[in-house]
Amino acid sequence: MQVVSSIVDLEQILTHQHTKMALVPTMGALHEGHLSLVEIAKSKAGFVMVSIFVNPLQFGPNEDFTKYPRDLRSDLGKLAGLGVDLVFAPEVADIYQSKPKEIMANPQLANILCGLSRPGHFDGVCTVVYRLFELMNPSFAIFGEKDYQQLMIIQDMVKSYKLAVEIVPAPIIRESSGLALSSRNQYLSDSQKLAAANIHQVLKRFANDEIDINFARDFLSKLGIELEYLEKHFARTYIAAKVGSTRLIDNV
Ligand code: PAF
Repeated sequence: MQVVSSIVDLEQILTHQHTKMALVPTMGALHEGHLSLVEIAKSKAGFVMVSIFVNPLQFGPNEDFTKYPRDLRSDLGKLAGLGVDLVFAPEVADIYQSKPKEIMANPQLANILCGLSRPGHFDGVCTVVYRLFELMNPSFAIFGEKDYQQLMIIQDMVKSYKLAVEIVPAPIIRESSGLALSSRNQYLSDSQKLAAANIHQVLKRFANDEIDINFARDFLSKLGIELEYLEKHFARTYIAAKVGSTRLIDNV
């Protein structure tokens, strides 16, 4: 597994690459969910790449950019032995010093759900993903369905810009409690984690029309969880809720 941080080193390796390449874009703090994306990448292409980059453009001023968990050593340990060929772990300056093209997410998809409380978030995601595609030139890129709105926005971007990459959706990986795996679960105490499992239960019951939004809000509030949204769009149901200061999302 080769690990590079500079664009020059990346380009040097990729010019000699003639097999199809699959990319798993991540912000690090890897968990089983990410590792399942690597497995899918391996099934798609002969050369598997993982990017690890905490992208400042997709964090709002009051969000967790500075405290977002960063542990490259531990991430590389998790990837070792999985059959990953290349890890690209650039610094902010590597990615943004040359003023990359700014990409606007489709407002019809971006101005709902997470986009309402995180203005500019999806533009930041699109800008970095476009830049990673430009630098790494994958034939396939694997995105988890946990961030379903992100997945739809990236699919839309690929279509609008006619990019030669196939976006491969990957199913959500959950703990046995139902809690969707997320790097942000690291912020939760044991009791918060227990409470957070109810987010998935409420989501399923609302999706099946067993409860309404007021019941869901009160139920979660009694557990110390603040509901941000619980809505149906595009044949799916989406939730965002705060457990303490940790914002979690899920969908079914
Ligand atoms: O889903 C993520 O981890 C990030 O939004 C992504 C796609 C790696 C872009 O920074």
